[in-house]
Amino acid sequence: MTQHPTRRDLLTTAACAATLGLPSSGLAAGGGRALYGSCVKLSALDAEPDYAAEIVKRCQLVVPEGALKWADLRPSRERFDFTDADRLAAFAGRHGMRLRGHTLAWYGAMPDWPEAITSRAEAERELVRHIETVASRYVGLVASWDVVNEAVADRPKDASDLRSFVWTRTLGPDYIPIAFRAAASADPLARLVLNEYDIECADERSVMRRAVLLNLLRSLRDKGVPIHGVGLQGHLHGDRPIDRAGLQNFLVQVRAMGLDVLVTELDVIDDKLPADVATRDAKAAEIARTFLTTIAEVTPPSAVLTWGISDRHTWVPQWFKREDGMPNRPLPLDAAMRPKPLMSVVEQFARASA
Ligand code: XIL
Repeated sequence: MTQHPTRRDLLTTAACAATLGLPSSGLAAGGGRALYGSCVKLSALDAEPDYAAEIVKRCQLVVPEGALKWADLRPSRERFDFTDADRLAAFAGRHGMRLRGHTLAWYGAMPDWPEAITSRAEAERELVRHIETVASRYVGLVASWDVVNEAVADRPKDASDLRSFVWTRTLGPDYIPIAFRAAASADPLARLVLNEYDIECADERSVMRRAVLLNLLRSLRDKGVPIHGVGLQGHLHGDRPIDRAGLQNFLVQVRAMGLDVLVTELDVIDDKLPADVATRDAKAAEIARTFLTTIAEVTPPSAVLTWGISDRHTWVPQWFKREDGMPNRPLPLDAAMRPKPLMSVVEQFARASA
C-alpha cells in the first residue's frame, strides 16, 4: 500500500520547495495529490466548533475570506489592522497548516481613501508600502500569495484589456510588476501568484479572458517579473460546460512559461441547476471532476482550495440566489457538515481527508 505523506511531511516539502525556489507541485504531490485548503470565515471559527473541526481535520492550507483584503486591513491611510489576519495565522500555526495570502492588489474590497490618490509617485508609494508591510509579516507561514487578483477586464474588448481601478488609473498596467516585485522583496519564500476567474468555458468571453491572461503572463515573463504561478479561481457554473480543449491549450502555454497552476477558489454555482438535491449535488460533482481532470491531465495543480468548506458559509447567494428560494449547495460539505459527492471529487485530487 502506498504510504501517504503526513501533514508535517507536506509542510516540510512545501517549505523546502519555496526555499529552493522549486515549483512546489512536483515535491508537494509526494502522495500524488495536492495540498487541500479552504477559505475561512473568521467569525465562524470561534462560534462554530463543528466548522473549525472540519477545517482542522481536512485542510493543509487556509486562506482568510476577507481578513487580508485592503478593506479589512486598511481602515485609513495611517492604520493597518491585523487583528483578524493574525488570528487566522495563529490558528494555522497551531494546527500545522500554512496560509495562502489573498490578496495584495484587487479592485474589490478597496477602502475609499485610495481614491484620493492622484499622482503616480504617491500611488506607487502607497501600493508598495502596503505590500511590504503586509507580506513581510507572515514570511514562512504563507505558502503563496495572490499578489494580484482579477487583473483581466470582466468582459475584455481586446487581448490587452485589463480591469480599470485605482491602480490602473494611477500606474497603468505597471501596477502588476510593481506589486510582484514588492511582494518578492517582502516575502522571498512565498510563491507569487496571479489569480483569475472565468477562464474555463467555451464562450467568447472566456476565450478572450484566456487570451488577455496569456498576454499578461508573457509580458511579465519578458520583463523578468518574479511570478511563480497562476491561480484558477474555479467558481464554476453548474450549467456551463468546461472547454476541455481550450483550457488545456491555455495550460500547456502556462506550463511552458514554467509557472505552477493552483486551483484557488473552487465552488459550483448552482442557481441554474435542478432543485432536486441529489441531482444537483451529482451535477456539481461532475462539473468539478471535469474541471480538475482537465487541469491534472496537463499539470497536477500544486494546491486545490475551495471557497469555503461547508454550504453553511458561502459567498454564492450574495450573487447567485436560486429563484426557487432553495439554499445554494456549492461546497464539499453540506450545511450540517456531511460530505457531499463534491468532497469525493476533491479528495481524488487533494488530501482533503484527515
Ligand atoms: C468574496 C467573499 O467570499 C465575500 O464574502 C465578499 O463579500 C466578497 O468577496 N473572488 C475572489 C474572492 O477572489 O475574494 C471573493 O470573495 C469571491 C470571488
